[in-house]
Amino acid sequence: MSIDWPALRAAAVAAAGRAYAPYSGLRVGAAGQTSDGRVVAGCNVENASYGLTLCAECGLVSALHASVPEGGSATLLAVAVVAGDGEPLLPCGRCRQLLLEAGGGGLLVDTADGPVELNVLLPAAFTAADVAARRDPPTGSAP
Ligand code: THU
Repeated sequence: MSIDWPALRAAAVAAAGRAYAPYSGLRVGAAGQTSDGRVVAGCNVENASYGLTLCAECGLVSALHASVPEGGSATLLAVAVVAGDGEPLLPCGRCRQLLLEAGGGGLLVDTADGPVELNVLLPAAFTAADVAARRDPPTGSAP
């Protein structure tokens, strides 16, 4: 599926315009192209209890899951994240990890120099495979 980057960036700009960021003053919008041909978006939502802040990418990933048609499934193919000035903003570390689970290492992320694979922004990532390989072995009987 080809990515309509101008449309994705425009959706991210629109989402940034809806951000709730009275504390930092940094509006962020994120928009993603899904594997089933839709565009989903999110914006950052801050709180008086600063640590509760939700990044725009959190809203985007929630929208991805919440909007999947009944019985369907979808992943992210490409993501544009912008600040209130309309220019690309690189996702924070937590959001790179969140995006990895929603789109894999091949997810295309827009940057000021053009799209790059998430693998480039988050090398040697921790994944579900690490959980499966390193968890305690089953004990045999439930406590
Ligand atoms: N922010 C995001 O929404 N996404 C990021 O990847 C980086 C940071 C938001 C969180 C907070 O509301 C504001 O930017 C300043 O950190």
